[in-house]
This record gives sequence, C-alpha cells and structure tokens, in this order.
Amino acid sequence: MALAARTVGATGLGANFFDLPESVLRSRRNSKWNAYGPDILPAFVAEMDFAVAEPIQDAIRRAVAAGDYGYPQYKGGKAEPRVAEAFVARMERRFGWKTDPSLVQVVADLVQGTFAPLLAFSEPGDGVILQVPAYPPFHEAIATTKRELTPLTMRDAGTRHVFDVTELDDRIGPRTRILILCNPQNPTGRVFDHAELSALARLAIERDLIVVADEIHSDLVYDGRKHIPFATLGPEIAARTVTITSATKSFNIPGLRCGVMHFGTPELRQRFANTIPARLLGGCSGLGIDATVAAWTSCDQWLDAVVAHLPAARDRVLEVLRAELPEVRCHAPEGTYLAWLDFRELHLEVPAFQFFHDHARVALSPGENFQPGCAQFARLNFATSMPILDRILGRMVDAAKKRT
Ligand SMILES: Cc1ncc(COP(=O)(O)O)c(C=O)c1O
Repeated sequence: MALAARTVGATGLGANFFDLPESVLRSRRNSKWNAYGPDILPAFVAEMDFAVAEPIQDAIRRAVAAGDYGYPQYKGGKAEPRVAEAFVARMERRFGWKTDPSLVQVVADLVQGTFAPLLAFSEPGDGVILQVPAYPPFHEAIATTKRELTPLTMRDAGTRHVFDVTELDDRIGPRTRILILCNPQNPTGRVFDHAELSALARLAIERDLIVVADEIHSDLVYDGRKHIPFATLGPEIAARTVTITSATKSFNIPGLRCGVMHFGTPELRQRFANTIPARLLGGCSGLGIDATVAAWTSCDQWLDAVVAHLPAARDRVLEVLRAELPEVRCHAPEGTYLAWLDFRELHLEVPAFQFFHDHARVALSPGENFQPGCAQFARLNFATSMPILDRILGRMVDAAKKRT
C-alpha cells in the first residue's frame, strides 16, 4: 500500500491510479470483474485493475464529445496508417528496431493475428511448434485449424523455466511449418535472452519455419531486462517473422480492439495477402485507433509507473507464498503480470483452479487450459492494488492451510 502510494505520488498521476476501490472495479463491464459471482476475487484474465492513462482518456473523450463514430478517416488519409506510424516510431524509440509502415497490417485483435498466419503459411496436418505451457488461444488456433501441435517444453530449471530446442530433433519433419513464439512468455513470465532467441532463430532457418512472434507483453519487463524483438535477430529472421503486438496489455485497453501484424519483408506480406485478404481481417474502430496512438505516443510516464509497481506486486506474491505456502512453486516472472503457480505439492483432490474457486473464492486461470495435464497448476494475475492482492493471497493461504 505504502509503496503504491509512493509510486503514484512520484509520477503525479493521481491518488487512485493503482488503488481503485473494489466497488469501482465491480462497476466496470469487463470480463475480469463480471465472469464470476460478487464474492469472488478475480485473478485470471489478463486485464489490469488500474486507471487508464489520461492521454487515452482524453482521446476517447474527444471522440465522445463530438459524437464521432463514423468510418474512421482523418484529414489527409485513412486512420489505420496512424497506428502503423505510431508502431514504427515506438519500435525504433524503445528497441532500436527499424520497421516499415507499409509492412504493417492493422487488426482488431491478436488472436486473429495468430489464426491468420497459420491459415496463410500452413495446411491442415502441418506441424506448429509451440512452447508449452502456452496462452490457451494458441492451442485453440492450432486445434481448430487442424494443424498438429509440436510442443516445446518450458522446463522448470529450479529458478526459472527454460527450453531446449534439441528436444525437437526427432519431432520436426518436412511438414513442420510454423513456430509460435510468445515473448515475454505467457504464462511463465520468461523474457527470453539473446542466446535463447538465437537458438530459436537457428532452428527457424535450418527448418525453414515461419515464426509468429507474439510480443504483446514486451513493455512489461522488469529488473533491468531488455525485450529483444525477434525480427531484429537478422535479415534472414525478419524475412520469416510475423510480429504481432498491441497496446492492449501494457495500457489496459483490451476492449478497444486494435493491434498490429508486422511482416519482415514485402514478400512475406504478399504471401500472406495471397491467402488472407485484408478485408477478411476487418477493421478497427476509431476509438481503438485513437487509444492505441495515444498509448504509443503519449503514455510513457503512466507505463513507467506501472512497470515500477508490477515487480513490487510480483514480489509480494513470492514473499507471501514462500513464507506461508512453501509447497507452492513459483519462479519470479521476468515480465508480464502473470505468475505460473505449481500446486502439485499441496496434493489437492481437485484441480487447483476448482480448489481456490470453491474454498478461497479466488478465480485463477486453470492450468489445464495452458497445457493438458497441468490441472495442479494455475496462473495468477497480480496486476491489481496491493490491498486487493493481499486479500487474494490471504484467502488462498487460509484455504490451503485449512486443508493441510
Ligand atoms: C500472449 C497474448 N497474446 C494475445 C493476447 C490477446 O490480446 P488481444 O485480445 O488484446 O488482442 C493476449 C491476451 O491476454 C496474450 O496474453
């Protein structure tokens, strides 16, 4: 609590920035606070419980004040290139990554941005490599398009999760076409380093893979780490990489539906367009466009405050679990606001999600949605105020202790 208040004060962003009361949060019409009953504390879907940055609010207010809800077209041209330009400027400023607005396809959401490359660059029955556990829509994209999952295990190496591409040697074949990379990784919170990304890059080149690099969490990395966009690993990699990202996670605007796909070369973009016409991808609303441009151009102070707060919340999770429930394994996420919890040592009789839902009145994300067989794991979203986080953790500790 004290820490949250200090951080807020330093940025001049307003007293309630991190500490929105539960009544305000419950009055929001979002998935996080409405999917479960009124006595459940939600820690599942990747939304943050913080007030949205003022420049985003101002952009939305301007549109609302003008009743400005037509097909978006700004003076001097279509609206969507504004998103592409904001993306290009931001990638250069933050990561030194030179991108090209003509290689950007603006999309309404990033799950669409995963399905579409699978359809464009592979056929039913082709193999798709995915690090597991994985964000559930990646599994869904592979299964519903009838591609074959080739899992690459994120192994618990004691202090963090790691992977070893040689595990794939016997399992990659001529029909393996795509690697879905999620960096920072959801749900383990890993921020992959240069050596890890290079191993994946070598694999992609040797096996002639297209890489879908989901970098939606790239603003949320901690402890001095730096996010490395996969496409910056070299021209050969850029030529086979579709990067997907948006402002929705970092700036907490997922309901506004706007994101980008960036193709490493015009040839890659053309190959994609040959199968997936841009029209099929729909368009974004003016509100989504305005909010994304505001987020990417004018909200760094807000983001800095969030990136200062989240590791403190993460450390609170680790501190409480280590002191009160040492049987629960959790490695400090290096990025994201998601913690991957291993409850196997609690020997629960039901899936961990069910146990904490029923006995703690806390809703986590069920582990089995991220990887079959992981029902004794769950993902916890710690992007909330310290008081609410403490109640979530307190309830979980009480429920687990009562049982043991
Ligand atoms: C790794 C990852 N990709 C994509 C998404 C979807 O984002 P959106 O719905 O804003 O497009 C999420 C949302 O949590 C995510 O964690």
